Amino acid sequence: MVKTQLAAATVVQKVLGGSNLTGVLQDLWQSESSLTPQQRGAIQDLSYGVLRFYGQLEAILGLLLSKPVRDRQLHHLLLIGLYQLLYSKTRPFVVVDHAVNASRSLTSGKGMQGLVNAVLRNFLRQRDALLEQAAHQETGCYSYPQWWIDKLRLQFPQRFQAILDAGNQHPPMTLRVNQRKIAVQDYRDLLVQHDMPAEWLGGAALRLDKPVLVQKLPGFHEGLVSVQDLGAQFAVPLLDVHDGMRVLDACAAPGGKTAHLLELGDIALTALDNDAQRLTRVRHNLDRLKLSVAQLLCGDAGQPDSWWDGQKYDRILADVPCSASGVVRRHPDIKWLRRESDMAKLVAQQRGILAALWKTLNRNGKLLYVTCSIFAEENLAQIEGFIQQQPDARLLTPSDLPAETLPDGQLLPDERHDGFFYALLQKV
Ligand SMILES: C[S@@+](CC[C@H](N)C(=O)[O-])C[C@H]1O[C@@H](n2cnc3c(N)ncnc32)[C@H](O)[C@@H]1O
Repeated sequence: MVKTQLAAATVVQKVLGGSNLTGVLQDLWQSESSLTPQQRGAIQDLSYGVLRFYGQLEAILGLLLSKPVRDRQLHHLLLIGLYQLLYSKTRPFVVVDHAVNASRSLTSGKGMQGLVNAVLRNFLRQRDALLEQAAHQETGCYSYPQWWIDKLRLQFPQRFQAILDAGNQHPPMTLRVNQRKIAVQDYRDLLVQHDMPAEWLGGAALRLDKPVLVQKLPGFHEGLVSVQDLGAQFAVPLLDVHDGMRVLDACAAPGGKTAHLLELGDIALTALDNDAQRLTRVRHNLDRLKLSVAQLLCGDAGQPDSWWDGQKYDRILADVPCSASGVVRRHPDIKWLRRESDMAKLVAQQRGILAALWKTLNRNGKLLYVTCSIFAEENLAQIEGFIQQQPDARLLTPSDLPAETLPDGQLLPDERHDGFFYALLQKV
């Protein structure tokens, strides 16, 4: 456990220094190829867990220390230990023992074993009082930055606590069955045969009772199934696509919704993304699912002149870059990496993409604007602003919007799905 505690402390330190969690873990798997699957799993659990509850853990550590620990590695090792004492099933004396040993192997941690031992044991002694005191600060209570809490309180005065709480839960593992290859109920039976029971959530969605490694899913490599949150699966059916249509997936990578579009209709689909590396993931996903796209283009959706052939589209999916505030339970690093000051730039970028794509849409054509955000400025406020500027744009109310979506198109995160926003626009 010493090795995993140390590795997780380094991962957390890098993320809080500004790096993306998925990228940091991928780099680690590459540089430390001798790590066993169990060690990888433990490092991942610890890193995700500390970032999920970072606000609370920081508040507790602040209460336990008379002055800050100067060495950042040691600081993060203490956070890992506190997280384990609060949220893991490992016996407390094992956690403390291993954290003390881990601190011994830090160059700067030499002579710090006494401190690590004292901090973690003091936590165990005063646990309830410390938890109560930490919760007096909102960041300690909810484990989000203050600006995030304030924004949600303002936008969802009745629901903000439930939203914050939903973002701190473990996400379910939800699958989308490739209905071109197998019926949903047949795939569910196949899962049962492999001892992986799952609940049908409607459409092509199945939620596994227990998450498994993707590679273990029956028929995964043969393209029978993909992993995709239920909220993401709600998007494509709203676009009302019919066979033979010319369709643009404007922000396509890694291709979850591209594949869903192709699973549902025989369409001429162009998949566009401005990130060439991410675009290769679209290709890999489509190859695995045995689906083919008319065109895969690298280009800026906000600058159609550089990639568009001039023929208008019947349908456009604009799954625009956003704050990702609706998917923090899958990416807890977002809470700490996103800055309030990012919002204006994101909103301007979305506005530019929407206006540019509109010119490429046929009359009577439909455009579905999607974000995985719960912040109003990226969602309804963005769409209202667009409609004011665009007299030929009409906001439709799709008949098959999931029941739990709010009337304005906002889907709030809960135990079934992440948070998303959908707006279906028609050119009149
Ligand atoms: C929310 S993700 C899309 C997820 C994807 N639709 C799916 O379901 O798998 C947003 C994507 O937009 C891309 N992107 C960002 N700015 C863009 C732009 N100006 N033009 C085209 N793509 C852009 C990003 O590289 C990213 O892959």
